[in-house]
Amino acid sequence: MAGAVSSPLRLGVNIDHVATIRNARGGAHPDPVRAAQLAQAAGADGITLHLREDRRHIRDEDLARIGQAVSLPINLEMACTDEMLAIALAFKPHAACLVPERREERTTEGGLDVARFHNSVAPIVTKLRDAGVRVSLFIEPDPVQIAVAEALGAPVVELHTGAYCEAAAEGDTAAVRAHLDRLVRAADVGAARGLEIHAGHGLTFDSVQPVAAIPQVRELNIGHFLIGEAIFVGLEAAIRRMRALMDAARS
Ligand code: PXP
Repeated sequence: MAGAVSSPLRLGVNIDHVATIRNARGGAHPDPVRAAQLAQAAGADGITLHLREDRRHIRDEDLARIGQAVSLPINLEMACTDEMLAIALAFKPHAACLVPERREERTTEGGLDVARFHNSVAPIVTKLRDAGVRVSLFIEPDPVQIAVAEALGAPVVELHTGAYCEAAAEGDTAAVRAHLDRLVRAADVGAARGLEIHAGHGLTFDSVQPVAAIPQVRELNIGHFLIGEAIFVGLEAAIRRMRALMDAARS
């Protein structure tokens, strides 16, 4: 587990979109396995993969190949379905992050509403925990969602940073402040309840530091921006810069 305990704030690199580019042409290039190896070399603390129902990027066979190619912990993002549960129980990733999923969405829009869907989420949390998988719930930074996450027995919550990042991209400083305040409060409430706090979605070089500076946040999961930036500067350089920004915000 190289790197997993090397930093107080871990960086999980989501390499789904390397597979998106591969799939655009068919064939094997670019290979997400190579991206996972480069991410490890560049100082990532984990590899995050979202096996979607429609397999639009990562595919089943990628999971095993990536798991064998790197020593980093794998964080499998998955919908709350029987199919994904069976795959997760067979693959046994270090961690599984339960996310909402709709076929027509371009990316994971909004957090999993665990307050509304607790009946269907509960057995999945239990089965994954019983199998030794560290379960995380991808939720909005909302105290009610956090309370339900704790009641469900999930050890980790990942706070959705999408609304904050959208406000940051639009330069709407009042909205940025409001979304950041929600994240800060949610991290505080969640940590006080004994939950490990992660965050992610939409983070960029420009938006990462205020989130990285929230002391209770232990892990950030970042994908789309890093893969896009890799086109210009290379994947290792993009990850190293993100890592440096996170570390600077932390210190
Ligand atoms: N965390 C979770 C739970 C996600 O679903 C995603 C997107 O797959 C990310 C983090 C990474 O988001 P982005 O690709 O926008 O950095």
